[in-house]
Amino acid sequence: MRGAFLYLSKQKNLRRWMETSRQAHKLTSRFIAGLELNDALRVAEQLKSRSMLASLDYLGENVKTVGEARAARDAYVLALTRAFEAQLGATVSMKVTSLGLDISEKVCRENTRELVRCAHQTGSRVEFDMEDSNYTDRNLNLVYEMHDLFPGHVRAVIQAYLYRSEADIEELCRRRIPVRLCKGAYHEPPELAWQSKEDVDRSFVHLMHILLDRGAYPAIATHDDVILREALAYISSRAIQRASFEFEMLYGVRRRLQEQIVNAGFRLRIYVPYGAAWYPYFVRRLAERPANVMFVARSLVND
Ligand code: FDA
Repeated sequence: MRGAFLYLSKQKNLRRWMETSRQAHKLTSRFIAGLELNDALRVAEQLKSRSMLASLDYLGENVKTVGEARAARDAYVLALTRAFEAQLGATVSMKVTSLGLDISEKVCRENTRELVRCAHQTGSRVEFDMEDSNYTDRNLNLVYEMHDLFPGHVRAVIQAYLYRSEADIEELCRRRIPVRLCKGAYHEPPELAWQSKEDVDRSFVHLMHILLDRGAYPAIATHDDVILREALAYISSRAIQRASFEFEMLYGVRRRLQEQIVNAGFRLRIYVPYGAAWYPYFVRRLAERPANVMFVARSLVND
């Protein structure tokens, strides 16, 4: 089921049809803030009033032209500027292929440098979302480069399902680069990644312990009750400072749990996607939880 959805997330014709459908907003509103930056800023304001932070994701990936990559960079710069003016304390989450990595490393590097410079000027941070394993090395190399230029203004993303992740985390800890730890949302072969939930969860917990022990302001990004309980037990047993890490969750996913985390006095940042290129992100969320398909289907029927 998961594989089938991940296959659908790559289908260009279906994507074009879905993204231009008039029914789209009804489908997507649970997981996507809206089509415009103002929609994402409104959500970030609401989150702030509930003591939650935001990371704004201008949706887009695998862009094919220099113009599209520059437009994405400009959209992110505007998001950082507007969030700064509104004192939202928001970061941005960006995919390196939205800034042109499929076109050339040079184009991507220039756009990324400009974006991270803006994060530096606005006291914010660029979180480098991690895509499939074809991009892992190039993504991390850009993170290292940008951290050297603007230390404290980037965060790497590490996927617990990849075998290589422990070595990557050790290197990121050594360089004092903040990490967001997630399970991983792409289809990866058994040569590279754990395949069963049990193995991925075990790896997540192991890496989480490393990050909580010696990471630089890590983010624990999961909605998994069992793992969150383990995190809370570990934090309390080691007397880890609450200000030294944050939890991260996706907009629209497990909203009651989000409230519980904040009410218990922990920092929580919500990943807030917005923009017209919503299809691949949306289908990955369906892949994570097939019950979402029924949820979405009901929203179409209950007009
Ligand atoms: P798991 O999938 O085991 O789910 C645990 C429980 O959470 C489920 O039983 C269900 O109740 C609930 N749940 C999970 N997903 C849901 C959904 N879509 N809808 C409704 N309920 C759901 N991945 C990646 O490859 N690169 C990245 O850069 C990021 N970035 C990122 C940022 C943030 C803030 C988060 C929270 C996640 C990511 N991810 C990601 C996605 C991540 O890899 C993973 O696919 C999802 O978070 C789902 O995994 P869980 O850890 O929630 O556990």
